[in-house]
Amino acid sequence: MEDHSRFNLAGSSPQFMKVIDQIHRLAKLDATVLIAGETGTGKELAARAIHYLSARSDKPFVPVNCGSLTDSLVESELFGHERGAFTDAKTASAGLIGEAAGGTFFLDEVDTLSAKAQAALLRFLQDHTYRRVGGGGLRQVDVRVLVASNADLVDLAQKRQFRQDLLYRLNVLSLHMPALRDRQGDGAVLARSVLQRLSHQYRMPLKQLHADGLAFIQQYRWPGNVRELENIIHREFLMSDDVELHLRESRDLLMGEVVEETGADAIDRPFRDAKANAVAEFERSYVRAMLARTGGNISQAARLSNQERSAFGKLVRKYKLGGFEGQVA
Ligand SMILES: Nc1ncnc2c1ncn2[C@@H]1O[C@H](COP(=O)(O)OP(=O)(O)OP(=O)(O)O)[C@@H](O)[C@H]1O
Ligand SMILES: [Mg+2]
Repeated sequence: MEDHSRFNLAGSSPQFMKVIDQIHRLAKLDATVLIAGETGTGKELAARAIHYLSARSDKPFVPVNCGSLTDSLVESELFGHERGAFTDAKTASAGLIGEAAGGTFFLDEVDTLSAKAQAALLRFLQDHTYRRVGGGGLRQVDVRVLVASNADLVDLAQKRQFRQDLLYRLNVLSLHMPALRDRQGDGAVLARSVLQRLSHQYRMPLKQLHADGLAFIQQYRWPGNVRELENIIHREFLMSDDVELHLRESRDLLMGEVVEETGADAIDRPFRDAKANAVAEFERSYVRAMLARTGGNISQAARLSNQERSAFGKLVRKYKLGGFEGQVA
């Protein structure tokens, strides 16, 4: 087996080794792959590995996060536009698909594409032709498409929120990235590899995991998966003076019973006050935990909570949790 660490993929559990094996096979097949898995499980890393192991490796790998594209501009971002196609289109653009020519085009959060963009993507997958926004002729480009989603696309298709025919095109081949909690022993392996990287990056002495830290890593559910683990290790690496990390603060934050404290004391106060207090406690711990899960990414945390970004951002400011991200990009 080739060393998968050259793709920054760490892990040695049987569940993860199966993924590595599949990545090698998928790299040889020049077809669309749907990469599924919870947030932070390494879907983008897997897509990169597939590209760099494929015959397209000397051509571009172009990733795009569909969730971060403005609705009205999705099509032109993806497929380009002609000059004058809309007010701001002062020059023509080849779009991201044009940039990926000969290489691999990776569409992350593909479930967030608008109905129009889904139609355009379907057309493209059928015959590799597309049109720029604002007219022009039919164009053709040789691009391999990889997509990822942490939503259940089958379920979305049943609810008619995602095109069934597009789903068929996308999941000819598929790869499932296992959740960290299902990768036996990998939490510790990943934590150690992050610690190594951090000591290089900051030119600081290497730190180890204390038995308590290790126990926490094994017990916690890791809803934000590897990203959440990286974020916590990063923070503790920087903040703790010990050579051995206990991860005590993270454990208290993530596994502590923050919300429950409102019970007994509450009856000494007027109902309205007690309730407001409980709600505030809940909001604070919820937002904090969500930010930990997404490594401080507010948009992503908002999406996971099924909240508008602006509403979620307001809560982040209200509880002054904005500095929480800080560390892991
Ligand atoms: N097996 C792994 N080894 C080392 N690092 C990993 C591994 N899997 C994921 N990571 C790291 O975890 C973070 C999240 O990975 P990535 O962005 O690929 O996840 P994702 O599944 O695309 O998440 P999302 O659904 O939120 O887009 C990145 O910093 C990545 O480097
Ligand atoms: Mg991703």
